[in-house]
Amino acid sequence: MEQFTTVEGLKKGLAARRGSVGLVPTMGALHEGHVSLVEKARAENDTVVVSVFVNPTQFNDKDDLRNYPRTPEADIEVLKKAGADIVFMPTVEEVYPEPDTRVFDFGMLDKVMEGATRPGHFNGVAQVVSRLFSLVNPDRAYFGEKDFQQIAIVKALVKQLGLGLTIVECPIVREADGLALSSRNRLLAPEYRAAAPRIYAAMKAGAAEAGKKSVAEVERDVVAGIEADGMLKVIYFKLVDEETLREVSDWKEAAHVRGCTAVQAGSVRLIDNMRFI
Ligand code: PAF
Repeated sequence: MEQFTTVEGLKKGLAARRGSVGLVPTMGALHEGHVSLVEKARAENDTVVVSVFVNPTQFNDKDDLRNYPRTPEADIEVLKKAGADIVFMPTVEEVYPEPDTRVFDFGMLDKVMEGATRPGHFNGVAQVVSRLFSLVNPDRAYFGEKDFQQIAIVKALVKQLGLGLTIVECPIVREADGLALSSRNRLLAPEYRAAAPRIYAAMKAGAAEAGKKSVAEVERDVVAGIEADGMLKVIYFKLVDEETLREVSDWKEAAHVRGCTAVQAGSVRLIDNMRFI
């Protein structure tokens, strides 16, 4: 596996290779969810590039950026084992030699849920992802469904920029107790880690009621289930059309309805989602 910290190195490394390129963009602190993306990219491409870069422009909270876990040495070992060919671990200056002032318009896609509660977050994601796409020029790029709204934004970005690459959506990987794998899980204090599986349990129970109870009743039950022991606080739980991310008020309003939530677990913000219908 080759490691590059500069754009020049990355370009030279890529130029020496032939065939299709799969890109897995990450912010590091890698876990089995990331490994599943790298493995899928490995199976579908001649060259697998993984970027490890904590992108400052997508953080709307300075403390969150400062506290975001960084484990570069462990990440390199994980990526060697998972079969990556190239790891790109740039500095902020390398990715943004000039401040990125681009403002993207995603209509309502970035005004709801994560977009509404983390202003500017998706604009920053679009900035870094478009920059990585232009540096790597991949045939395919791999994103985890845990960030369901992010996938919608990235697909819209690809369409807006007229890029020829395919966005490959990969399923959420969960712990045995149902907690969705996330780099932020390692920041959970033990009592919050113990409570966190309630998120999946409550959504699963809610999904079993979908179509039998009303949307409003299921929403209420899921929120109550997550908050039942007083440890977790729901920031939002929304039932949305999977295509448009518009909230539904009736199960029949969309071909597929997805439940999406953000939950405060002490100082850590967790997100999760699941298809309800
Ligand atoms: O999902 C993430 O880890 C990040 O948002 C991404 C796509 C790597 C962009 O920084």
